[in-house]
Amino acid sequence: MTKFYSLKRITVIILLISLLLLSSNEIVEAETAQPVRAKNGMVVTASDIASKIGVEILKKGGNAVDAAVAVGFALAVTYPFAGNIGGGGFMVIHLKDGTNTAIDYREKAPLSASRDMYLDKNGNYISSMSKEGVTSVGVPGSVAGLIYALKKYGTMPLNEVIQPAINLAVKGWRLDDASVKSLNQFANDFKKYPAAYKIYANNGKPFKEGDLFVQKDLGWALNQIKEKGVEGFYKGKVASLLIKTMKEYGGYITQADLDKYKPVERKPIIGTYRGYEIVSMPPSSSGGIALVELLNILENYKFKPEDWGGSYYIHALVEAMKYVYADRTNYLGDEDFYPVPKKGLLSKEYAKSIFEKITDKATPADEIKKTNPIKYNESNETTHYSIYDKQGNAVSVTTTLNSAYGNKMVVNGAGFLLNNEMDDFSAKPGVPNQFGLRGSEANSIQPEKRMLSSMTPTIVLKNNKPYIIIGSPGGSTIITVVLQVIMNCIDFNMNIQEAIDAPRIHDQWLPDMIYHEKFAINPDTKEKLIKMGYKLSDLNKTFPIIGKAEGIMIDKDGIIYGAADPRGSGTAEGY
Ligand code: GLY
Repeated sequence: MTKFYSLKRITVIILLISLLLLSSNEIVEAETAQPVRAKNGMVVTASDIASKIGVEILKKGGNAVDAAVAVGFALAVTYPFAGNIGGGGFMVIHLKDGTNTAIDYREKAPLSASRDMYLDKNGNYISSMSKEGVTSVGVPGSVAGLIYALKKYGTMPLNEVIQPAINLAVKGWRLDDASVKSLNQFANDFKKYPAAYKIYANNGKPFKEGDLFVQKDLGWALNQIKEKGVEGFYKGKVASLLIKTMKEYGGYITQADLDKYKPVERKPIIGTYRGYEIVSMPPSSSGGIALVELLNILENYKFKPEDWGGSYYIHALVEAMKYVYADRTNYLGDEDFYPVPKKGLLSKEYAKSIFEKITDKATPADEIKKTNPIKYNESNETTHYSIYDKQGNAVSVTTTLNSAYGNKMVVNGAGFLLNNEMDDFSAKPGVPNQFGLRGSEANSIQPEKRMLSSMTPTIVLKNNKPYIIIGSPGGSTIITVVLQVIMNCIDFNMNIQEAIDAPRIHDQWLPDMIYHEKFAINPDTKEKLIKMGYKLSDLNKTFPIIGKAEGIMIDKDGIIYGAADPRGSGTAEGY
């Protein structure tokens, strides 16, 4: 009898412990691969070489910002698909002392830019001009942004954090299968630009796995940056080569544009969701505002574990997404040029008013026009990395050239790819860009303005300490990817790997359509959603995958879990 009772008691205790562990997101069991576990630090990027470089910096005693800067330069070499020195990005930082900050090194429109620069004399939008070739290039921000972050929040000298990237470029690195496939896939796109064709298409000879990929010119440009800092890129020889390329092809960027480029440190967007604090990117990104608005709307629901993947949950997500993407279209742009109604868009009351409009049917997109929050308003071609260090500093960075390998042009002699970020402006109100995103006056083109982004580097805090560090590439889908990973963790108690692996959906108001990954919506749910009035995307056609999130979760005992997205070929490296 006594034995029976003590066995029963032990069973109850084990059950209680299990429940406790589950409710604190401890890794007990998972339906997917376990995340990488570490005690001291973690770096998750889209390139295994870059992840290892980041961890080496942490091991040497560098902080998360030092590692982020080293990774930023390394990705320009090992992940030219999106890593860059010729593009831009955003860095969200949470420091161990509680400081939250955001560094905006988004590209800017050149001084000669104008509202209608991509329209012909009849007012028709010539989309190739903003998307392709030399006319699509925004003034690059990455080098200035990374160096700004290092000087203000890092602890190591530039030469130390940039050296691994220089070594890789000069000595070369062995191409893996994913890099070979990616480079060979775009080989024809480089053909128009001999300097790029030579490096990134191997002059027409397809790359093979294991080839040594040397980028001598890029190594030289990185060395100029190492020796002269910001001036090594924005002035002197590298700048002259950039201007020469502009002149040769008829581009807009001049030395005056390079002289004027400055990154901006901004107050991050801060929101709350079910007791967690959300720290994310402010304009010129739409990401932070849209993410917090989405979470504010969805906080009005009470989801049960069994709701995940069902019509009730997908309906809630999609309706919230439609309203928020309509607001993105109508109200969001570079805050330095346009009065973004931030307070209204971020208010819980406004979110509640949207929640109250949602019925149990699909709201047709054309019924969602312009709301008035004042009264109370990449595609996978970008890349994200998340870093956490031993001291408790967290860094979340998303960086981009816009399209894959940017505009496919290389600055001759300096070996770096140029962005085609001008396409993220709304060149003609109401006309969609390459991500199908529309815009308004808020995102019209003006000299020195930053084009609106969807990049959403985010840090979620629990009791003022980093809990999730997350972000994704994916153009218009970035925001909804970050949303779903966060909700998978908070509402559905998934660990970071499960939360990232789980199939995803996406809706951006227009086109009026739910996009979904192959296994995101089962046939029964699909049927219910269609009955509710939804249209579903033709499976796999538009978005075969939705985003590639790279994330970190820190549990209450300080154990760090890193998860790379299996949709990509990145890795989580911890120590
Ligand atoms: N170029 C993609 C973005 O910034 O959202």
